[in-house]
Amino acid sequence: MTDRNPRFTGKIAIVTGGAGGLGQAISAALADEGARVAIFDTSPEAIDRALAELKGTSSLGGPADGAGFLGSIVDVRDRASVARGVDEVVSAFGGIDILIAAAGGSLGTPRDIDDIEPEHLDLVIDVNIKGTFNCAQAAVPSMKSRGGGAIVNFSSIGGRSTSPVTGIPYAAAKAGVLGLTRRLAREVGPDNIRVNAIAPGLFLTGRLQGMFDAMAEKDRHEVLDAIPLHRMPDLRECVDPVLFLASEESSYITGAVLDVNGGRFMAG
Ligand SMILES: NC(=O)c1ccc[n+]([C@@H]2O[C@H](COP(=O)([O-])OP(=O)(O)OC[C@H]3O[C@@H](n4cnc5c(N)ncnc54)[C@H](O)[C@@H]3O)[C@@H](O)[C@H]2O)c1
Repeated sequence: MTDRNPRFTGKIAIVTGGAGGLGQAISAALADEGARVAIFDTSPEAIDRALAELKGTSSLGGPADGAGFLGSIVDVRDRASVARGVDEVVSAFGGIDILIAAAGGSLGTPRDIDDIEPEHLDLVIDVNIKGTFNCAQAAVPSMKSRGGGAIVNFSSIGGRSTSPVTGIPYAAAKAGVLGLTRRLAREVGPDNIRVNAIAPGLFLTGRLQGMFDAMAEKDRHEVLDAIPLHRMPDLRECVDPVLFLASEESSYITGAVLDVNGGRFMAG
């Protein structure tokens, strides 16, 4: 348990991509501050593994009293699948207050233009943009009926600048998430629903840690030299800004993007 006052007691959150590196860490931290958390992900094995870790001793501390977890097999690209997941959460927990739309990524698609096939473009756009839209569309009615809510969408430094690490589909999708975030924020603001985006730099989750460790020392230095804070971040340094945007601490912030990248990209 964290030693600060829990900010999410009685709150109900959905975290898409909740079995992934950042999603699981965010789920643990939300529960650590009292939320009931539903994780949406595609693989039953990954959900089972994540739930076992979340219910046990997560590195961030066990869940607070009243917190709880639910796992739902949801493909965010599929509107019917998202609707089923949202119904499950509403039946089990009673509603939705917070949506963290973390499902996404380059999803193993190639980076270079010559190697990109139509199915790669479809996959990256469908998961990152359509998936973010589908989840918001399904969650908003419950938030409205509860008098408000908070949505945090996942963009990326790759959608804020021309990152050489990721390809064109990812850049387009993550820039698109920002347009979606602003337009949605305008639409649901009168219902007291805030919508913001987070744009992380490189966080070494899962296989990314292996990739970084396997790089030549010179290349690792090059990565660090581009970051003014000159170090790689802890996962917690992405989790905390997400929780800030999901909490009442950011009650007058909507339609914003928070760059969390050690200074590698600075907005003008
Ligand atoms: N890790 C980073 O450095 C970094 C940087 C910038 C942005 N991001 C963004 O943060 C988010 C989380 O990244 P991560 O590093 O935790 O990645 P991750 O690959 O560890 O987790 C992503 C999760 O999304 C799930 N997912 C994929 N397709 C899905 C679908 N159709 N429906 C439901 N779930 C699906 C995956 O199964 C996985 O569990 C992503 O949107 C990513 O683009 C990550």
